[in-house]
Amino acid sequence: MIANLVIPSPFILAPLAGYTDLPFRLLCREFGAGLCVSEMISCHGLCFKQPKTLELLISSSKEHPVSFQLFGADPDIMGEAAAILSSFHPALIDINMGCPVKKVTKRGAGAALMANPELAERIIGKVIQNSTVPVTVKIRAGVSLKELNGEEFARMAEAAGAAAITVHGRTWSQGFSGKSDRIIIASIKKVLSVPVIGNGDVLSYQEGLAMLAETGCDAVMIGRGALGNPWVFTEAGRPADLSAILTGAIRHMELIEQYLNTDHMLGTIKNHIGRYFKHLPGSANLRKAVYDSPTFFRLKDILSDLRDRGTANNSLR
Ligand SMILES: Cc1cc2nc3c(=O)[nH]c(=O)nc-3n(C[C@H](O)[C@H](O)[C@H](O)COP(=O)(O)O)c2cc1C
Repeated sequence: MIANLVIPSPFILAPLAGYTDLPFRLLCREFGAGLCVSEMISCHGLCFKQPKTLELLISSSKEHPVSFQLFGADPDIMGEAAAILSSFHPALIDINMGCPVKKVTKRGAGAALMANPELAERIIGKVIQNSTVPVTVKIRAGVSLKELNGEEFARMAEAAGAAAITVHGRTWSQGFSGKSDRIIIASIKKVLSVPVIGNGDVLSYQEGLAMLAETGCDAVMIGRGALGNPWVFTEAGRPADLSAILTGAIRHMELIEQYLNTDHMLGTIKNHIGRYFKHLPGSANLRKAVYDSPTFFRLKDILSDLRDRGTANNSLR
């Protein structure tokens, strides 16, 4: 439960720029994710109505509850963007204070805010002031291993009014290297009253349960582990059966067809679909066929044909 929002499962889909659009969020909800978070949405893009940013707002009542994530470093613009975002009625607004990508941090946003708690506090205040829904904050373990300020920062975010805090257990300077530190997640959980969501390196449902048990956190957020693998939200996990994997990938394509312009989605869907088969022995040819597909529908046909042919020995070889 976050504020008064009941979340049906403690497994949450992380915000992943370039991936967690409406079709993928719906797919993950169908597979049991309790809440999904949008890709990060630029406050400037929203306020200046940039078409690419507005596309990120495509949603459906079927995905409720959904969280829309904002990023930016200007408190007033973040506040203005929160008001705009609220009018789209997400269940939550999340503020990105954990992204280490240079494009974001060089403007003082994302993980750079971990090094500027005063500014971060003003941003949280302005977003809450202008939002009609509860506001959550996603942070890292700290600025660096030498400046491990995650606990202090999380206390500040809670005191500023955040309804929940997600902690990715790496520091800003670590980027994606090293491991997500569960001890830090546990220590942050201990000092907060609002729900804490643990994040980092969870690749299966069982690993998610282990993160919950080890850290005492209230929910687990899964990012990379969900790519090509929406089954990560199910206890049974990824099916061994190739035709079941094809069915999942085809379902993903059906959801794209239903909600987005397929002509614009070829690159994105190739990124997703290749990942469904990455772990399968003998999948190199299939992945090549996926990447060589000239159109969305040709790619869908390849998958449907393969499934209809019946993968008798359940192998791609
Ligand atoms: C491709 C990619 C895109 C990401 N985009 C975002 C984003 O938009 N907002 C954000 O807060 N974090 C973003 N992250 C970080 C993830 O949400 C998550 O914190 C991180 O990947 C650790 O979790 P994982 O090990 O389960 O992937 C991104 C990570 C990846 C790999």
